[in-house]
Amino acid sequence: MTVSPLPYPLRLTGTGIVLREWRWEDLDDLVALLDEPDIARWTLMPSPFDVPAGLAYLRRAHQGRVNGSRIQLAITADGGRPLGEVLLFNVGAEAREAELGYLVGRPFRRQGLATAALSLLTGYAVDTLRLRRLLLRIDRGNSGSTSVARRCGYRPAAEPLIEQAGPYGPVHLGTWEYLEGRPRDDRRNNVASRRYGRR
Ligand SMILES: CC(C)(COP(=O)(O)OP(=O)(O)OC[C@H]1O[C@@H](n2cnc3c(N)ncnc32)[C@H](O)[C@@H]1OP(=O)(O)O)[C@@H](O)C(=O)NCCC(=O)NCCS
Repeated sequence: MTVSPLPYPLRLTGTGIVLREWRWEDLDDLVALLDEPDIARWTLMPSPFDVPAGLAYLRRAHQGRVNGSRIQLAITADGGRPLGEVLLFNVGAEAREAELGYLVGRPFRRQGLATAALSLLTGYAVDTLRLRRLLLRIDRGNSGSTSVARRCGYRPAAEPLIEQAGPYGPVHLGTWEYLEGRPRDDRRNNVASRRYGRR
């Protein structure tokens, strides 16, 4: 079975949010979102994350979308201003698995956005791309991210920690997995709708 190239362009709607392709005009918003210590710490993003870093990031994102090697979408409330990002990459066609990642800008946290975005992309990966196993790599100290993973049906996998050098010292990435057929918690899927008052 092959899952590449991944669909492009893509717009996913549900769980109270819209996931859309990055646009060149998002540059200033992207820099404002990503130039932030927690993002540098937990995602190993360049820091400071300035306009040249943002341009390079958008170019890489565009390349990965056009060649179908990854899904990389802005998290938005309604298709407009980006509030964060969710990704799917490292697709292993044979094993029908892929890695996912996410981040949310500091002003927009604790509104259910990461949960909504991960839940929406997880559903798409399983139901439409027919992937069987989805993976997250999360530092063992990143309690916000592990809560999001758990809420979306991911569980710790029996894999050794991956150690990487980070700007704030070494990070120890644990692997979390979502297996096809695992029930998704639909009570959580409307978190963003509730917070934005839309149903
Ligand atoms: C981790 C991150 C993505 C969470 O995004 P978010 O949109 O705030 O997450 P949600 O609002 O969906 O959070 C859902 C639940 O997770 C838990 N949670 C989220 N952030 C938390 C934090 N900083 N500390 C403790 N619990 C947290 C809470 O239980 C929360 O529910 P509640 O707000 O009703 O209490 C965001 O903080 C972020 O972008 N951090 C920096 C980048 C990063 O760590 N990315 C993940 C790399 S693996």
